[in-house]
Amino acid sequence: MTKTDNQPAVADALNALLADSFALYLKTKNYHWHVQGPHFRELHLLFDEQATQILATTDLIAERVRKNGAPTLRSIGDIGRRQSIRDDDGATVDADTMVRTLATDNETLLAQLKEVKAAAETDGDIATSGLVDAWADETQQRIWFLKATAGY
Ligand SMILES: [Fe+2]
Repeated sequence: MTKTDNQPAVADALNALLADSFALYLKTKNYHWHVQGPHFRELHLLFDEQATQILATTDLIAERVRKNGAPTLRSIGDIGRRQSIRDDDGATVDADTMVRTLATDNETLLAQLKEVKAAAETDGDIATSGLVDAWADETQQRIWFLKATAGY
């Protein structure tokens, strides 16, 4: 396949990753704002650190799509149509559930990063392939911190 033939696969994978990055960002902020209990301060700060890290990747992801000549997300509605990480609108989510939910969601994000990597490698898109490595490392660190916090 030519590079042009493969571009949509990389762009689609990146746009799916972008939608889920925004979904996970807001979910992590949601928990940052609403967490309660004896570990409030620790979790409030952990969630904020993780949200900041996730948000920092979004512009880079979107601009990789544009550099490949494809359109990227345009709206909250676009995010909603593409996200696979589900929102949590629960009014009373306990702190332990928040930590475990975010660990699972970050694992979903890691799987998407692997899909981007595979598409980029197929395409010979070394720039995208290289960027994904650092994002995977950050995602694995978030998973580690969350699992260590939950004690499993
Ligand atoms: Fe805050």
